[in-house]
Amino acid sequence: MEFTEELSHQRKSDQDRAAILANPGFGDFFTDHTAVIDWTASEDGVTGTWDNARIEPYGPISLDPAASVLHYGQEIFEGLKAYRHADGTVWTFRPYANAARLNRSAERLALPQLDEDAFVESLRRLVKADVQWVPSGEGEALYLRPFMIATEAFLGVRAAREVSYRVIASPAGNYFGGELKPVGIWVSHNYARAGRGGTGAAKCGGNYAASLVAQLEAEQNGCKQVLFLDPFNDEAVEELGGMNVFFVMKGGKLVTPRLTGTILEGVTRSSIIQLAKDRGMDVEERTIALGEWREGIANGDIEEVFACGTAAVITPIGVLKNGEEHIGDPEAPAGEVTMALRTELLGIQTGVVADRHGWLERLA
Ligand code: COI
Repeated sequence: MEFTEELSHQRKSDQDRAAILANPGFGDFFTDHTAVIDWTASEDGVTGTWDNARIEPYGPISLDPAASVLHYGQEIFEGLKAYRHADGTVWTFRPYANAARLNRSAERLALPQLDEDAFVESLRRLVKADVQWVPSGEGEALYLRPFMIATEAFLGVRAAREVSYRVIASPAGNYFGGELKPVGIWVSHNYARAGRGGTGAAKCGGNYAASLVAQLEAEQNGCKQVLFLDPFNDEAVEELGGMNVFFVMKGGKLVTPRLTGTILEGVTRSSIIQLAKDRGMDVEERTIALGEWREGIANGDIEEVFACGTAAVITPIGVLKNGEEHIGDPEAPAGEVTMALRTELLGIQTGVVADRHGWLERLA
């Protein structure tokens, strides 16, 4: 797909950009440009064409107040990162896995399919335009946020016939702020994130909107994230508000909830499974109930617990707060296996560990 470019835009002075890159935080600052591709349905309202691919100055989107994304939430998104290597080149990690997931989400939300090469090209064009925004500090990267929204002005409830795909970028350090340290997680008993046949496996804004009230509860209880359970399946552990979860068992086995259609299939999740297998670790994707977490911590069968995702990378979990009950130790140091997997994954992403699976794609 051919992109047109309007590249002269600079929203921040070189000095301001340098100050942001010195301490990027997560999700607060945005680069100078955005990638956009528009989709319009044909007569049948189902098939359609993508066109007008462009890199334009970053800025507010002009939307009709009746645009269906604003009313019915027909929206999906992705998250991936661009890493600066020591030689100055910029790479991203498994973008075709994100492209494929975007299309699975699109199918579930009745949005159009986007050609995987067009998806990767949109990232490449945006990163090339804003390459000076890619941080080079340890654990830092340019977070890329592709998303697709229904822009058609129409209040009937049906799949929109006008859609916009966009990518924005934001320099990012540790998702949880400051230095990496174990986080506390709050168990939600009042809310579920997803149900059978719902949108749990899709990366759509609605899932995250539905998690926010529970996230507020977590924050009120001093926790960084919320854990959702499947109350109909022995309180099976599902996932965190925006991350998958892993357990390191005594003897070195890795356990993570299996994909049941209510859990997001994380790209980081699947990469960790591969890296663990490469190390000769046993990996089990299965149901794990809250009770097993409680007993495993008490009797030593579970040695480490961690969260993972593009934004979180691999973040150790210190304590699980289940109401008044505290499972684990908020002061416990990060586990050895957790940190070894984190170091290896970040090493591959930043070019200091061999990319033996061919996961990296050069952007600039
Ligand atoms: C990501 O990890 O990329 C996500 O989309 C999750 C969100 C917590 C930032």
